[in-house]
Amino acid sequence: MSVTVLVGSQWGDEGKGKIVDILSEKYDIVVRYQGGANAGHTVAIGDKQYVLHLIPSGILREGVICVIGNGVVIDPTALLEEIAFLEKNNIKVDGRLFISHNAHLIMPYHKLLDSISESGENKIGTTGRGIGPSYIDKYARKGIRIVDLLNRKVLEEKIRENLKEKNNLLTKVYAHEELNVEEIIKQYVEFDKAIDKYVKDVPAYLNNAIAEGKSILLEGAQGALLDVDHGTYPYVTSSSPTSGGACTGTGIPPTKINSVVGIVKAYTTRVGLGPFPTELTDEEGEKLRKIGAEYGATTGRPRRCGWFDAFLVNYSAMINGIDSVAITKLDVLSHFDKIKVCVGYELNGKPVKSFPTDVERLSAVKPIYEILPGWKKDISSCLSYSELPSETKDYLKFISEKSGFRIEIVSVGPKRQQTFYV
Ligand code: GDP
Ligand code: IMO
Ligand code: MG
Repeated sequence: MSVTVLVGSQWGDEGKGKIVDILSEKYDIVVRYQGGANAGHTVAIGDKQYVLHLIPSGILREGVICVIGNGVVIDPTALLEEIAFLEKNNIKVDGRLFISHNAHLIMPYHKLLDSISESGENKIGTTGRGIGPSYIDKYARKGIRIVDLLNRKVLEEKIRENLKEKNNLLTKVYAHEELNVEEIIKQYVEFDKAIDKYVKDVPAYLNNAIAEGKSILLEGAQGALLDVDHGTYPYVTSSSPTSGGACTGTGIPPTKINSVVGIVKAYTTRVGLGPFPTELTDEEGEKLRKIGAEYGATTGRPRRCGWFDAFLVNYSAMINGIDSVAITKLDVLSHFDKIKVCVGYELNGKPVKSFPTDVERLSAVKPIYEILPGWKKDISSCLSYSELPSETKDYLKFISEKSGFRIEIVSVGPKRQQTFYV
């Protein structure tokens, strides 16, 4: 049986939610391994659209077990809202969702510090969900974890200790009013009552499941270029969306991972600040945004849009060890007469050898484009690869050769049936 990691191969929003939903038909367990409610994974079923932030997208397939691993930072308010939303839509969560003891909690001061830091000069354009400040506390060994919710005395002590420091910071550095310790304690004691039943020893559970021959899909959030180590630092998130993060974020060892699937959008988008070599700031970019409905699933912000960047995806395929990819949103390109693909970069008139992740160089590169003819036909009802126009097949062949990947799945619309295997 297999353990597969699914990763976003660009800057997030590649359509991971949709492809997890498709693949989870074949998996017993789906696990989120990093990030938090900064993610917005959309699954369209019939006329309904579900946006999942913390709970794995596998929850929409009956019988699939969903797990939130230790690498995720959990905002209890967002989690409980999501559970309530699913249950309201007749999706059973009880008995199908498990949460790691070791996952860290997002606290009210994390969200506040995120918004204060974004109001200053060194903005990243975060989602404001408290992600960075929560990971800061995790690595500073001051974080409060799910396991702490289970012991009232420890929880109180940790909240008091943290609040002392955070209130000092808020009042003395940021001239902000203090947060009320008693209120936060009361709120998090309540969370314990609601979350208790979902808590599990996740590494033991997942490794036993593997030993029993169960199949596991590890659902990455964000994308490789937002990875804190391999992305366009500092314009990244604070976790490891790349495939390596799937091991540390769950307790599944590297020797148990069988394959890595990359999710690749047929063009490029990015939300928030940071360099984006193929960005289109003209009417073509506006056209991509409009036709692709490129607005953030979490914050509603307009996404920056641009041409497909094969040089970037080639780097992403390398650091993730991608075996095969799912190409999404191919239908969006049906409206263009000519389609550009970036096949490399130039810097000071010379070709760039490897993908530069440092912001100074990446901001200065000039993309080298090849121009391909568009197909100008609606492909959104194609049910197989053979039904695609020859120009569409040529486009897929070209981007897969230049990026160095093999296409396994093609998506031509948001719905389940608008998907086929190659
Ligand atoms: P994720 O964060 O990677 O899960 O992606 P998002 O859900 O943030 O953004 C992807 C958007 O594209 C969602 O609105 C999906 O419903 C939609 N989508 C997914 N695949 C396709 C596709 O092949 N064609 C079109 N037109 N939309 C798609
Ligand atoms: P999914 O899983 C796209 C971006 C933010 C910002 C940077 C840091 O839906 O693909 P953070 O709040 O994480 O500290 O913000 O990362 N970002 C995303 N962009 N898709 C996402 O998630 C993202 N999650 C964070 O816009 O630039
Ligand atoms: Mg998203």
